[in-house]
Amino acid sequence: MEAPTKNLALDLVRVTEAAALASARWLGRGDKESGDKAAVDAMRKSFAALDIQGTVIIGEGEKDDAPMLYNGEKLGSGTGARVDVAVDPVEGTNLLAYGRPNAISVVGVAPAGAMFNPGPSFYMKKLVAPWEARNAIDIEAPVKDNLLKISKALGKDVDDLTVFILDKPRHAKIIQEIRAAGARIALHTDGDITGSLMAVDPRNEIDVMMGTGGTPEGVLSAVAIRIMGGAMQAKLDPQKADEKAAIIEAGIDTRPVYSVTDLVKSDDLFFAATGITGGSFLGAVKFSGRGATTHSLSMRGLTGTVRYIDAVHDFTRLMKVSNVPYD
Ligand code: FBP
Repeated sequence: MEAPTKNLALDLVRVTEAAALASARWLGRGDKESGDKAAVDAMRKSFAALDIQGTVIIGEGEKDDAPMLYNGEKLGSGTGARVDVAVDPVEGTNLLAYGRPNAISVVGVAPAGAMFNPGPSFYMKKLVAPWEARNAIDIEAPVKDNLLKISKALGKDVDDLTVFILDKPRHAKIIQEIRAAGARIALHTDGDITGSLMAVDPRNEIDVMMGTGGTPEGVLSAVAIRIMGGAMQAKLDPQKADEKAAIIEAGIDTRPVYSVTDLVKSDDLFFAATGITGGSFLGAVKFSGRGATTHSLSMRGLTGTVRYIDAVHDFTRLMKVSNVPYD
């Protein structure tokens, strides 16, 4: 694996800011494709200015399905370090389309070859908790056992724990089990990257994220969790027969339990996220007469530095130098 030589964390936050600013225009308009496309266009233009030789490992899908930021696409100026790139231009496309909280724009970068490649796997079971609970989690153990051990590791009672889980029919049983264990539940329609980040970030009210969500989202979350120092276990969890068949055909074993270090095999990582619709994690894009404000997170694995960045953007001046159409 080749190490990126320069700190890309601040460059990357400009990429997620651009995607958030472009897609936020689509808030609540009921059109998730257009919101996503605006973010993809802005993100791709921003990446072009970065001195990296990037390959998209986690992208918008295979080449034929996605016109841009597809898996395998080359990104960056073509000079600089060879890196794996994970993008989720709008994490929570429905949250954006229906004006609900916690849609964010996300990017992760790792040395070439360091990121787990999900191949045809769409769904992954995940269990995420703060660093203090790193020895307490076991994705194959019953929900109740995990919650008891996590609560002990965090020094609180189970009924003081808040568990983030996606509100999906597939989670009916696990939701029942969380309730039976006595923990509190935050049910969200979408956005398990946000849920995972909230679970490891001590500034948030969430203690645990559990349940099945996207595999790409799991790898992107792992980049941030490895940097922030949280606990995570994951296991591929195909939801339909054709997904399972494609995984088997690709020679991928669904049995292993993955840790953060299996999902990203390096500490030389960069991660950035910017809030689009707002919520308790990263604030919303707010437009003013002259531009907009954004709220972002930027971090670097080698140093462990996590920055929360509020930015004021002046569209008139920005448009004189930027290749992204902001106004
Ligand atoms: P999109 O932004 O691609 O719509 O993903 C939102 C999301 O909720 C993810 O956070 C989550 O991992 C995944 O979808 C769950 O998939 P599904 O909605 O099919 O259960």
